[in-house]
This record gives sequence, structure tokens and C-alpha cells, in this order.
Amino acid sequence: MRLEGKTAVVAGAGQTPGETIGNGRAMAVLFAREGAKVLCVDRDLARAEETVAQIVSEGGEASAFEANITLAADCEALVKAARDRFGRIDVLVNNVGIGGGGDGPTHKASEAAFDRIVSVNLKGMFLTLKAALPVMREAGGGAIVNISSLASIAGGNQIAYEVTKAAVNRLTTGTAQANARHNIRCNAILPGLMDTPMAISGIAEARGESTEAVRAARNATVPLGGRMGTAWDTAYAALFLASDEARFITGVLLPVDGGMSVRVG
Ligand SMILES: NC(=O)c1ccc[n+]([C@@H]2O[C@H](COP(=O)([O-])OP(=O)(O)OC[C@H]3O[C@@H](n4cnc5c(N)ncnc54)[C@H](O)[C@@H]3O)[C@@H](O)[C@H]2O)c1
Repeated sequence: MRLEGKTAVVAGAGQTPGETIGNGRAMAVLFAREGAKVLCVDRDLARAEETVAQIVSEGGEASAFEANITLAADCEALVKAARDRFGRIDVLVNNVGIGGGGDGPTHKASEAAFDRIVSVNLKGMFLTLKAALPVMREAGGGAIVNISSLASIAGGNQIAYEVTKAAVNRLTTGTAQANARHNIRCNAILPGLMDTPMAISGIAEARGESTEAVRAARNATVPLGGRMGTAWDTAYAALFLASDEARFITGVLLPVDGGMSVRVG
């Protein structure tokens, strides 16, 4: 029970439908298993409710809230909902992230895709942090986990996604620096190739390949064990960063990537 007595907000706690589990849902479920009360926030309320149902079926405590994090009013509302329902926010996970849909290398990515991805991945996280930080400061502390990506440090073929995730890294370190005196820790996880529905189905659809073919190709490029990670790998790293075990850790950008970043150099 590493989060016993704590309350957590997971933004992006629903998930893209698919055979496996997404990062947001896995983090919400694991945090609840470890004793946290979890506010499951998503722009798709039905998906957030599915996550809540899973948590409740396991005996945990959770509540769903619909919010589009690209809207400041929704971010204020989700923070208010967390306070109203659970009293405080000890942990905030910023998991929302999108890609695809017209993204590409710099010379090919569409302006519309660039604007959309910046709005969700970067502005949305900024707005969520801006809404939650005063509440955490007032309470005397908190722990924030931002979900970045290995794409923040390498790639080239999805420039909007990559630059927004690079900005997430700086948003993390800057937020860590500015809030350390308030006992608020802010860290980021850089997942590598993960077997989540958004990644596998999204790529399979975009390339016109089977999900099996996409899985095999991704597995083959991972140094550690020759297989992708799962959302549980992200979730266990997030659990550590969210818990008091990480009480002296802030401003860290933690790859969870089976050695991909070591290979990239
Ligand atoms: N899957 C991977 O291989 C991988 C690798 C690196 C990083 N990541 C990152 O992990 C995070 C989650 O990925 P996932 O595969 O678990 O995705 P997911 O689709 O399962 O979860 C994302 C959730 O965010 C929600 N969402 C999207 N836009 C929103 C908005 N504007 N407001 C509120 N909710 C919104 C979606 O409805 C969805 O439920 C993302 O930030 C992604 O960039 C994933």
C-alpha cells in the first residue's frame, strides 16, 4: 500500500479501445491497488468510467470526471472535482498525449496536425499544471508525474509529437525547479516502445499492416529481451515517482524503454 491515504488525479485515465491496457488506465488501477483514491479524468467519460469500474471491482475507490484538458475551464473544473470529492490532490499524473493524424517529418507534417498535437500534448499539460499547482502549494506539497516519450530525445518522423514531448521534458524540469520550495516534486517518464492499444492499433491503421506485424517489428528493435514494454512498466515507474519512496527525487526524466535510449545514445 505505497499510496495509502493519498488522493491521485490521473488525466487521460481512459484509454483507446484495444486488446491491451493503456498507460493511463494501468496507472489509475495500480495506484488504487496501492491505496490511493483516484479521480479518473478523460475527455471520453465512458472510457474513464470503464477504468473506475475496474478499480471498484477490485475493491478500490475511484471516481470519473469528464474534461478536455485543452480548455482552461475544464482543468479548473477537474481540480475542483478532486477537491470536492476527495479533499485534496497528493498526486497528479499527466498522461494525456496524442500523435498521428497528419504528423510526419518537418517537411510533410500538416499545420493542422501540428496545432492539434501542440494543443493537447503541451498546452493541455501546461493548463492542468497551472490549475493544480496552487492547490498543491496550499496543501504544502504534492507529487507530479508527467508522461513524456522517448520520442522527446530521438526520432525525426513525427515532428509535432517529438517537439511537444521535448517541451514536456522542459515543462517538467522547470516546474520542478519553481516548486521545490513548496515541497512539490515533478518528474517525467519517457516510455519507449510500449504495447498499448493507442500505439499498436494507431500504427497498424496508419501503415495498413496487421497488429501482429507491428508488434513483431517493434519487439525486434528493443534491446532488453527483444520485446516491447507494457503499460504496467510505465505504471510501476509512476508508482515509485508518486510515492514517498521518491521523496528526494524531482526534475528527473526517467526512460522506461528497455534500453532503447542507451542504444540511441
Ligand atoms: N504507447 C506507447 O508506445 C507510448 C510511448 C511513449 C509515450 N507514450 C505516451 O503515453 C501516454 C498515454 O498513451 P497510451 O498509449 O496509454 O494512450 P491512451 O489512448 O490509452 O490514453 C490516452 C487517453 O487520453 C485521453 N485524451 C486524449 N485527449 C484528451 C484531452 N484533450 N483531454 C482529456 N483526455 C484526453 C484519451 O481519450 C485516452 O483515454 C501519452 O502521453 C503517450 O504520448 C505512449
